[in-house]
Amino acid sequence: MIFDHFNYIKTETLSGDIRTDVKNILLINGKYSTYIHVSNVADRNVLISKTYGLNHDKCAIAGLLHDISAIIKPADMLEYAYVNSFAICEAERKYPFLLHQRLSKICAAEYFNISDEEILSAIECHTTLKQRPSKYEMSLFIADKLAWDREGIPPFYEEVNAALDISLEAACYKYMKYMVDNDMILCPHDNWIEAYGQLKETR
Ligand SMILES: [Fe+2]
Ligand SMILES: [Fe+2]
Repeated sequence: MIFDHFNYIKTETLSGDIRTDVKNILLINGKYSTYIHVSNVADRNVLISKTYGLNHDKCAIAGLLHDISAIIKPADMLEYAYVNSFAICEAERKYPFLLHQRLSKICAAEYFNISDEEILSAIECHTTLKQRPSKYEMSLFIADKLAWDREGIPPFYEEVNAALDISLEAACYKYMKYMVDNDMILCPHDNWIEAYGQLKETR
């Protein structure tokens, strides 16, 4: 199990209630702000699920677990990726925290016993998106951006939220374009480049 690789991670017996278990593991590992963020993302993802006919429970679980690997140190994420022979892109090598989306998927599967592929794949690309994303992947991507983990309201909030009235694709494109136009991408991840290129083309 992934957490066994890191001797500083504390775990407790799972209760079976995912909200309780996510809260417990984040709090005992000193990640209170992550707990607040994932709760907000889960709520936002459920709201989006209602508009787009997605399964509410899946969207809640994806939101709760998307950043669960925040209890692993970024340097250890890179080490874990090397040891487990991940194919790593330049952006992940430069900014190992980008690996947290892939590690959160592993935590969800190995620690929380999630096997639903729609949930797991949404977690796995929630930061970068990917080519031909599913509705669950786009929904979590947007929920994570609208309920971001920083102070205040995101500068792109109004336009991305308005684009959500059109389609999930429109909202994803609007957010990605905002980031590109405002030079807010430090080093684009391969998945990001492919997703943005494809969304741009299909508009
Ligand atoms: Fe994240
Ligand atoms: Fe997040």
